[in-house]
Amino acid sequence: MISPLDRFARFPLAHLPTPLTEMHRLREALSRETSRKLPRLFIKRDDCTGLAGGGNKTRKLEYLIGEALAAGADTVVTTGAAQSNHARQTAAAAAAAGLRCVLVLFDTVPYQGHAYRCSGNLLLDRVLGAEVRIVPGDTDAVAIFGEVMGEIEAKGGKPFFVPVGGSSAVGALGYANAYLELAAQLDETGLLNTALIHASSSGGTQAGLIAGAALRGRGPSVHGINVYRADNEAMAEGIHALACKTTALLDTTAPSPDAVSLDGTALGEGYGLPTDAMRKAVELVAHSEGVLLDPVYTGKGMAGFIAQLLEGRYADHDAAIFLNTGGMPGLFAYEEEFAAR
Ligand SMILES: Cc1ncc(COP(=O)(O)O)c(C=O)c1O
Repeated sequence: MISPLDRFARFPLAHLPTPLTEMHRLREALSRETSRKLPRLFIKRDDCTGLAGGGNKTRKLEYLIGEALAAGADTVVTTGAAQSNHARQTAAAAAAAGLRCVLVLFDTVPYQGHAYRCSGNLLLDRVLGAEVRIVPGDTDAVAIFGEVMGEIEAKGGKPFFVPVGGSSAVGALGYANAYLELAAQLDETGLLNTALIHASSSGGTQAGLIAGAALRGRGPSVHGINVYRADNEAMAEGIHALACKTTALLDTTAPSPDAVSLDGTALGEGYGLPTDAMRKAVELVAHSEGVLLDPVYTGKGMAGFIAQLLEGRYADHDAAIFLNTGGMPGLFAYEEEFAAR
């Protein structure tokens, strides 16, 4: 059957479908902490997308690199925080497509661990051959992007700008596709009433999943855990706007604002700043399932998910699925949080 997603240029990067596996031992561990009923727990392994450490950006980049190549670009420019997984994945995607890559990384996170500014994703960006420019957190974004794009053009190059997190409507198509992939896997299990939970930041993952749900017309329901912005309501509005742009691209019905479920209680002091619940969640999932999460996104996402489960959320569901969006290299940048504790 022809899908509306087939209309878009796509550069293959990801190993798909990613596995969907049941977390029996995490469920047992959580059952010891609560008398409430827990649904069956699953994990969708988008940390296994396969590109230079994996993660959710690979799916978005298939469409974004497709767009860049169609535009005749020879250089990809993107941005994020110093430990951006998106930047690392973009560096890898550009290498795989034979494009140059310039990363403009904003030094915004006041985390003072010694590896934060040299290891983890930043180390991998360099190994992957990207040109890395770290700029102070308060740098004027429009001015610096204009400067970088202008420099490339002045040398005869053709730059293509990928927004933070790969979160344009085209990037979000990767998660509309992921939603359909997961739905097909769930159909095989026979589980009907299901919820999908994931860490949400620049919003493209959640917007794409919501667009995928609009295409499919039935569950699983989608629930973001905000790991990014203190203003939860404004973030939800941004995700809704992006989901509407994505459904417009796909010629399908726009979602209502209620389609955006966003829990702001796991963020802690701010983006990239560790919380106790994050550390516990990372260790619990590593010890019980042998699965690695990360300190900035999936660790907080899992912490929020566990808190929801212990409060009885999804108790009436057949299953709750955590989307592991990757980010494992971040553990090395935050080594003090886990080493010798
Ligand atoms: C590991 C990981 N998980 C989740 C997210 C959130 O995805 P999005 O920015 O699409 O909301 C990111 C974004 O950078 C990420 O790197």
